[in-house]
Amino acid sequence: MTKIGIVGIGRLGLCLALNLERAGFNILGVDSNTDYIQSIQSKALTSNEPHVELFLNEAKNLTVSTELNSVINSETQLIFICVPTPSKIDGSFNHSFIDDVCDEILKLAPPKNKTHLIINSTVMPGYCNSLNDRMSLHNYTVSYNPEFIAQGSIIKDQQFPNQVLIGEANEDVGDKIEAIYRSFCKNTPRYSRMSRTEAEITKLAVNCFLTTKIAFANSIGDLTIKYDVNQNNVLAAVGADERIGPQFLRYGFGYGGPCLPRDNRAMNKAANHVGLELPISEATDQSNDLHRSFQLETFEQNYSKDEQIVFSELTYKSDSDIIEESQQLELAVDLAHKGYNILLKDRKIVIEQIRIIHEDLFTYEVLEDD
Ligand SMILES: NC(=O)c1ccc[n+]([C@@H]2O[C@H](COP(=O)([O-])OP(=O)(O)OC[C@H]3O[C@@H](n4cnc5c(N)ncnc54)[C@H](O)[C@@H]3O)[C@@H](O)[C@H]2O)c1
Repeated sequence: MTKIGIVGIGRLGLCLALNLERAGFNILGVDSNTDYIQSIQSKALTSNEPHVELFLNEAKNLTVSTELNSVINSETQLIFICVPTPSKIDGSFNHSFIDDVCDEILKLAPPKNKTHLIINSTVMPGYCNSLNDRMSLHNYTVSYNPEFIAQGSIIKDQQFPNQVLIGEANEDVGDKIEAIYRSFCKNTPRYSRMSRTEAEITKLAVNCFLTTKIAFANSIGDLTIKYDVNQNNVLAAVGADERIGPQFLRYGFGYGGPCLPRDNRAMNKAANHVGLELPISEATDQSNDLHRSFQLETFEQNYSKDEQIVFSELTYKSDSDIIEESQQLELAVDLAHKGYNILLKDRKIVIEQIRIIHEDLFTYEVLEDD
């Protein structure tokens, strides 16, 4: 049974581990969070991500540890790295978690057989080439294999990807990564194989394009409202043009969450790094903010401060529990600061997070879980 290592088995890495385990691989997962590892070992982990608890309970070939050498000292020749890459203030990504893992790896004896590190974390263009330069002296290769998944459907998104993006160290490693995905994907995705830097640019470009499309739809929708016509009629017709397509072209709240906004900003930073401007990225961010201001004005025109305004579903996406950069929550905050009486209705896990940050700025109602 082929062994695969995964360093960083958080939201993304654990789902990958579970999908691979079910496809017949022997998975060695490493995570620095001791309590978390214990909860996985004892199968007591609770997760809002569909299928995770079930797959974990059924897993027979998943071993987890806090010790990196449990992976490096084994015969594992394929190691995914899926640790955080938080955004820096300037919009680029902080790679220090990956660097720390690699520093630790380099303290251990080099592997006898060529070992392939596959970076899953989102990184800036050029990073994987520089990491490969460092690691290749010690019998490692570095490839880049980012995923296009959304919170709340990670397991399913991994099983049914539109495309598998592989920034390969060489053709042989690319074949190995493709074979891994062929063994667990339940559809026939496009395998987009390319150089590491091409894949790094592609990952950011896809998310930059999606944010732009969402911001565009909302801007056109705002315009139709000003002209007192129906936004859905216009957007449905725009999306019916096959060159454009209907996906991500609905009128609603702006984009948010932990991936799209930061990947869009990082795209601009990547351009600046090589002396280019990429104004589309900044304009998209600005449009998202302008749309929220437009919605704020609309509420102000339609509600008096004596009335209660109800917001339900405060997460950035309905099937997740993440409130990071949620535009509907930011709108509710703006209204509350202007003196409006706002009732927030959502699941307990969401309300608890908001209550910690915003205390009694709002009235809250906890909805029963489905
Ligand atoms: N979650 C998503 O929907 C998603 C989507 C696309 C891309 N990504 C990218 O994947 C990466 C990981 O995201 P995530 O959401 O899984 O993050 P996460 O915070 O849920 O998980 C990361 C895990 O890495 C562990 N870790 C940190 N340092 C470590 C170390 N030195 N050794 C071992 N483990 C370590 C943490 O304890 C944590 O469990 C990020 O770069 C993110 O941008 C995530």
